Amino acid sequence: MAYFKHISFKQEWNISPQCAYMIGECDAYVKTLTDIPLKPKTRQNLLTVALTKGAQATTAIEGNTLNEEEIEKISQGWSLPPSKKYQEIEVKNVLTALNHLLSEIVEKKNIQPITPESICFFHKLIGKDLGDHLDAIPGKFRQDARFVGPYKTPDHRKISTFVENLCSWLRKDFCLAKEQSFSESVIQAIIAHVYIEWIHPFGDGNGRTGRLIEFYILLGAGLPSICSHILSNHYNLTRPEYYRHLNESRKKRDLTDFLFYAVQGFRDGLRQTLDVIQNNQFSIYWQNYIYEVFSAIKYTKKNVFKRKRELMLNMPLDKVLSIDQITEINPSITKKYARVTRTTVLRDLKDLRDSNLLVKEGKDKYRANIGIMKNLMF
Ligand SMILES: Nc1ncnc2c1ncn2[C@@H]1O[C@H](COP(=O)(O)OP(=O)(O)O)[C@@H](O)[C@H]1O
Ligand SMILES: [Mg+2]
Repeated sequence: MAYFKHISFKQEWNISPQCAYMIGECDAYVKTLTDIPLKPKTRQNLLTVALTKGAQATTAIEGNTLNEEEIEKISQGWSLPPSKKYQEIEVKNVLTALNHLLSEIVEKKNIQPITPESICFFHKLIGKDLGDHLDAIPGKFRQDARFVGPYKTPDHRKISTFVENLCSWLRKDFCLAKEQSFSESVIQAIIAHVYIEWIHPFGDGNGRTGRLIEFYILLGAGLPSICSHILSNHYNLTRPEYYRHLNESRKKRDLTDFLFYAVQGFRDGLRQTLDVIQNNQFSIYWQNYIYEVFSAIKYTKKNVFKRKRELMLNMPLDKVLSIDQITEINPSITKKYARVTRTTVLRDLKDLRDSNLLVKEGKDKYRANIGIMKNLMF
């Protein structure tokens, strides 16, 4: 038993001031991003991207080589060639599991504490229809000895007790069902995941099951599903570090460094997600501003007025474009500017510059004058 002292069900970690600060940052980012209203289409796109990335990351860690594009096709109902069939099923299973949790927790508000039965149920979802491609019986604890990397996992006869103890420890010390702080929820999610890896209850699929439980706890604590992919993505992008921390924390019997590593990745991922949402928000404000400026313009020719406004609404916010690129931003603009002379193009651009919506950059290059809006921000 001495070999399994790391599975102690006790708080064997410290939260350093820097880690506590990062958890505070995560809390602030989550609060900010949940308060930003989005257009329905943008919101749906972001959710789809998060789910796709989440499924891609957690399966990539265990060796699945499908890319995000292929996974998006799968989620839209496409089928991949027979040679990739089992990889397709692996991803579908994860997508089904993520969607199941979203439906239970977000839609039905059915938040249950983690039990041995739910852990087996998660594994069953992950392992469905995989045949020999899952070295385990879906939903059943292993009956043999296993290694993961250099780690000899606990004797299979201990698994039921360990899993029971893990669940009652999570219920008692973290109280998922009751109100718990943001910090406690994040720590609980990460710790539960590591304990699943340490106990390694199943022959195979422990990584995917552990990361799904981590997601479940975060979602249950009220985090938005848009954050669903962040931790799995982080583990996947830093895979050697992920394995090293799992191993080192066991050897040291101390989860301090693992927590720091996971929280840092979570914080960075949340910051990136917030950036995407804020950029989207900014473009909505910018478009409003363009409409406002145009509403104050007196015009004689409506088609010229609409052409300039359409051009401005379609100018990218982050690029400097040449005149030729501007007049070919999209098919509708290309069609409109194909009918006019170069002099007219230059006059349109000058008018937009006079309205302070465009700025000239170097010789004959232009960009949207978003600086004018940045001046209105703190
Ligand atoms: N040294 C280690 N100690 C404990 N767990 C580890 C170690 N190295 C990797 N792991 C975990 O084990 C998982 C692999 O176990 P496995 O049962 O094959 O799950 P999956 O098939 O979902 O990847 C990894 O994703 C990781 O979470
Ligand atoms: Mg595996």
